[in-house]
Amino acid sequence: MISVHRETEQDNRNTPFEFSKQNLVRAEEIIAKYPPQYKKGACMPLLDLGQRQLGFTSISVMNYVAKMLDMPPMRVYEVATFYTMYNRKPMGKYNIQVCTTTPCQLCNSDSIMEAIQSHLKIKPGQTTPNKLFTLHEVECLGACVNAPMIAINDDFYEDLTAAKTVEILKSFEAGKPLPYGPVSGRKDCEPFSGPKVLLSKEPNDIRSLTRADL
Ligand code: FES
Repeated sequence: MISVHRETEQDNRNTPFEFSKQNLVRAEEIIAKYPPQYKKGACMPLLDLGQRQLGFTSISVMNYVAKMLDMPPMRVYEVATFYTMYNRKPMGKYNIQVCTTTPCQLCNSDSIMEAIQSHLKIKPGQTTPNKLFTLHEVECLGACVNAPMIAINDDFYEDLTAAKTVEILKSFEAGKPLPYGPVSGRKDCEPFSGPKVLLSKEPNDIRSLTRADL
């Protein structure tokens, strides 16, 4: 997809942007993790920080990050328009990302996407009129073993069904989000039939296991 910047009221190069005091401290901590000659390595976390502060990755955020890291602005634009985690348009309060990559698709992610679209009456890339939800279709989010799944902001909802997904959306609409994680009742990504290994001792005790125990 070709990404073209169009100046708008909300997203134009004349709108000033700078990190809040707190985020400036965080940004300096992030930059300090990289050798000075490689500080451009901090580009992605700083864009993320800017997006969290403003609500989306505006041209001003990108220019600010470029200046902070002594990078040509074009290099930052390339990063921000390549990764789906950066949103170039203002977002709703809750960013819903639906994974539709193969493992999730085999577990019927199509039905999850349909349920969300039909409940919220929006399509991927759109935001609800009340600015509560933005919907995105994304590639693998790394929770394939608990497919199908969606992310709402930073939290993963897993082992979903269409009905459970609508229930989750309603809980957000009511201001009382359901707990995240697998909705099937299993713990993390244990087998559905329960844990199979390390049954006799807590994992923290593993150093005390003898060869005979293993
Ligand atoms: S395929 Fe959906 S999380 Fe990996």
